[in-house]
Amino acid sequence: WVYNVRSSGKIAFLQVRDGTGFCQAIVSQQEVPGPVWEAAQQVTMESSVQVTGIVSKHPKKEEYELQVRDLVIVHRAEEYPISKKEHGPDFLLNHRHLWLRSPSQWAIQRVRNAIINATYEYFGQNHYIKIDAPILTPTSCEDTTELFELDYFSGEVEAGGRKAYLTQSGQLYIEAAMFSHGRVFDFGPVFRAEKSKTRRHLTEFWMMDAEHAFVDYVGNMDVQEALVKHIIHSVLDHNQYELSILERNIAPLEACVKPFVRITHADAVAQLQNMGSDIKADDDLGADDETLLTKQYDVPLFVMKYPAKIKAFYMKPDPDDPTRALCADLLAPEGYGEIIGGSERIADYDLLVKRLEEYKLPRAPFEWYLDLRRYGSVPHSGFGYGLERLTAWICGIQHIRETIPFPRMINRLDP
Ligand code: 4AD
Ligand code: MG
Repeated sequence: WVYNVRSSGKIAFLQVRDGTGFCQAIVSQQEVPGPVWEAAQQVTMESSVQVTGIVSKHPKKEEYELQVRDLVIVHRAEEYPISKKEHGPDFLLNHRHLWLRSPSQWAIQRVRNAIINATYEYFGQNHYIKIDAPILTPTSCEDTTELFELDYFSGEVEAGGRKAYLTQSGQLYIEAAMFSHGRVFDFGPVFRAEKSKTRRHLTEFWMMDAEHAFVDYVGNMDVQEALVKHIIHSVLDHNQYELSILERNIAPLEACVKPFVRITHADAVAQLQNMGSDIKADDDLGADDETLLTKQYDVPLFVMKYPAKIKAFYMKPDPDDPTRALCADLLAPEGYGEIIGGSERIADYDLLVKRLEEYKLPRAPFEWYLDLRRYGSVPHSGFGYGLERLTAWICGIQHIRETIPFPRMINRLDP
């Protein structure tokens, strides 16, 4: 494909790409037969072509070029809507099916793919089993206000006239599988009816959840830290070309070899108040708070022990202070904020029943989940990362909508 073309008299410069990378193909009128030169004149932006030629090194740069000997047009493209000039985000998102071809979007998807591969590699090396959690579920895993509800054969007697919900996280299901395999993870699309139009929220995104037996909330952070380091290491090893296209300053990524910082929510609140935030002791960290806080550190930051009442029902309370949960969010540096949420889980049956009641959650759909605490319950913990947030940080992209091939947000379902 020709992503750009320019001609200067007797020489045509075709910027070509083949999916694996980019290269300049040079057609010189003097060196090709007449019909090849004429074909080169016909080439438009995003035409598909077959070019044959001799590879030569660029006289000045560390790049290789193609001295064209033959050129066949496979398809001559109509006038391409995305030009070199600046386009607004709405225009680009409306043309997402074409925008995906541009070098920066190509680079982002390659890094996303590298993160996925590195994740599988890490879990494979550490004896985790991948479990595929269901997408259609009878109940909620996280915040009930953000559930996408759908009609599940409500007219059919056989189905009992039910509602179903699109999953918000596979966590509860991989907890069940953890009792079979010890260490498990899932990786799949999740859905949240987020009404917020922020740069970190999508309504459909990809989450990786991991769950491990006999691991407490500290061990849980250790696994997250090792996983994130493995991912960064792998991207720095394999994706320098993509990072350079994105003009990503890699120094902050390289800094992540150092130990990640771990502070409590109470300490985070105190620090934020000192920096002028109006956050209160029992508040969740807002996006601005996270940005402010992460700019203080050059490595990812775990914020531990949030107030239990602002976190999910399944999180184990701190035995030393039951108003706090044995949880941690991992915040990415450079202002990116939360990329992982995780916690130790409640292993005790009676306590879990009590928490379901406190959260006013219906008992029946959670009966199976309670079974996990009836038969061989063990201390365990887990976490989940948002692939788009992780990709945005590693690529240095401001808005996560560019990190997923076809973003879905409150105001976008097309293309
Ligand atoms: O913190 P969350 O809500 O945690 C869970 O769902 C747990 N069940 C995970 C677990 O313990 N297994 O979501 C996990 C991560 C967040 O840290 C964030 O990176 C991402 O998912 N995330 C979103 N990404 C894009 N758009 C949204 N609307 C997101 N909501 C959460
Ligand atoms: Mg969270």
